[in-house]
Amino acid sequence: MGLYSKFVLPKIVNCVCGLKPTRKQREKVVPQATGKVLEIGIGSGLNLPFYNTEQVDHITGIDPAPEMWELNSWKGDIEVNYVQSSAEDLNLENDSFDSIVCTYTLCTIPNAQKALSEIMRVLKPSGKFIFTEHGLAPDPSVMKTQNRINPYWKRLGGGCNLNRNMEELISVNGFKFSSFDKMYIPGWKPASFNYWGVAEKIKV
Ligand SMILES: C[S@@+](CC[C@H](N)C(=O)[O-])C[C@H]1O[C@@H](n2cnc3c(N)ncnc32)[C@H](O)[C@@H]1O
Repeated sequence: MGLYSKFVLPKIVNCVCGLKPTRKQREKVVPQATGKVLEIGIGSGLNLPFYNTEQVDHITGIDPAPEMWELNSWKGDIEVNYVQSSAEDLNLENDSFDSIVCTYTLCTIPNAQKALSEIMRVLKPSGKFIFTEHGLAPDPSVMKTQNRINPYWKRLGGGCNLNRNMEELISVNGFKFSSFDKMYIPGWKPASFNYWGVAEKIKV
């Protein structure tokens, strides 16, 4: 890992992900988590202040980058257990979490389909997958910019993709939405089209 990825990028990501528009997105979804929670790509723990302490028992946060978690400064009442792991290969039991939270991370996970099948595996049948993510915009001109600059953005942004269609990605992987919204949040349009909501396992 280069010096940029280890020392510079985590601070940039922590700063950009902490901006007001993304905080507002976190506020919309994170308080819906209940019980035993798994957070995918916990990063520097920017969601932690938004959990409802009355309804969350415990949080397991996975992320392959300990240098992100080292920036966490949250002190609160919920027990949080950080595990260095990639979402594509979770060393966790089947059907074991009430809520799985994923924010601004499906854009970065190299194999997002594999990660979603792991999320599906470890989520209880009655569990909730709670997310807010940026992704592919609906306007052709913005989409064109996203597709054009994605290779360079990805290199500078630690693997982040601007052009993933999160609605399609989540729904083709066996989830149905119990709530879903999408819109531009304030900011630079190619990185500001957000998808958020709650998805459940499709019962078979
Ligand atoms: C833009 S940051 C978002 C962090 C945090 N979720 C938030 O909302 O602030 C993306 C995170 O995804 C993590 N990540 C990258 N590859 C991953 C993978 N394969 N599985 C899980 N997390 C991954 C990165 O280390 C980073 O912490």
